[in-house]
Amino acid sequence: PLTSPLLAIETSCDDTACAILSPDGTILAERVLSQTGHAALGGVVPEIAARAHLSALPAVLDETLRAAGTKLDDIGAFAASTGPGLIGGLIVGSSLAKGIAMAQHKPFVAVNHIEAHALTARLPGLTPTQIGFPYLLLLVSGGHCQCVAVRGVGRYERLGGTIDDAAGEAFDKVAKLLGLGWPGGPALEKLAKEGDPRAVDLPRPLLGREGCDFSFSGLKTAVARQIAPYGQEALPRQVAADIAASFQRCVADIMADRAEHALAMLPDATCIVVAGGVAANGELRARLEAVAAAHHLPFVAPPLRLCTDNAVMVGWAALETLKARADKNLDAPDDIPIAP
Ligand code: KG4
Ligand code: ZN
Repeated sequence: PLTSPLLAIETSCDDTACAILSPDGTILAERVLSQTGHAALGGVVPEIAARAHLSALPAVLDETLRAAGTKLDDIGAFAASTGPGLIGGLIVGSSLAKGIAMAQHKPFVAVNHIEAHALTARLPGLTPTQIGFPYLLLLVSGGHCQCVAVRGVGRYERLGGTIDDAAGEAFDKVAKLLGLGWPGGPALEKLAKEGDPRAVDLPRPLLGREGCDFSFSGLKTAVARQIAPYGQEALPRQVAADIAASFQRCVADIMADRAEHALAMLPDATCIVVAGGVAANGELRARLEAVAAAHHLPFVAPPLRLCTDNAVMVGWAALETLKARADKNLDAPDDIPIAP
């Protein structure tokens, strides 16, 4: 078993992150550097992201080591996200972690990024007692939107997911239509506070449909149709706020409905967990919490910094994996059956 700290790296999208965890999962240090250059470009540009990881990662790693009061020699194992994600960034982070591990003659653990999101809720100290299996995970971010049955470490079943856009992507695209900045989710939530969620009639794709798949592209088109008569430039603020509030209500209705259906597919769920950047949304959180309460289940939403991309989750997933799957080839866990 591991007796010294583990160092983890996350570079799958636009966050350059490092964390050091003790073998029991105590966070000794964590750093996230979010790339800001993409905002002006309206989204993450993979090539630019990869180059930014390459230039930022050594300093982020150094800072993290310093914050933990450790040297590379003190690290007992290394981990990195190896996918899914933007391949250029993944190669930067995992090559560095693997290279140091080789030089230090220490193990390297390749971590599936979605598995890392999925296991975060079990991080020690997050809940009074560590949550058990199985649980229902709703992973809702800019890149992912799926319901996952988490049955154990390395045991995941995708119950359903989006057939077009991810939830965060829908927030971002609608925010763009409304002339808000990127990322659009936070800006849209703010504007929605001034609007009436019943003002604009929007479709709720797949609502009530069997299973727990999602679809958001029709919703985005419907919003565009509401804006068209005015044109984005001339859109009155109140109309924009009403559209934002109605859109947010619509997504919350869809989420609650899909969560209900997912629970029916996992009747022995011990709790509902939400993760991903969209989990920051207050209305969404409240609705999912209500679904959990109606089923007498606890609702776990990790603190926001652990919901969005970070290296603590990668380190924790690596520790769980080291403990549970010691017999496996941890260098390339390509047998994990979860897809982006
Ligand atoms: O998990 P995350 O930081 O990055 C990945 O996509 O992996 O999620 C970012 C997404 C963006 O689409 C952003 O617009 C959305 O999460 N988001 C929100 C809110 N905060 C962030 N969506 C709705 N309401 C929010 N408050
Ligand atoms: Zn992610």
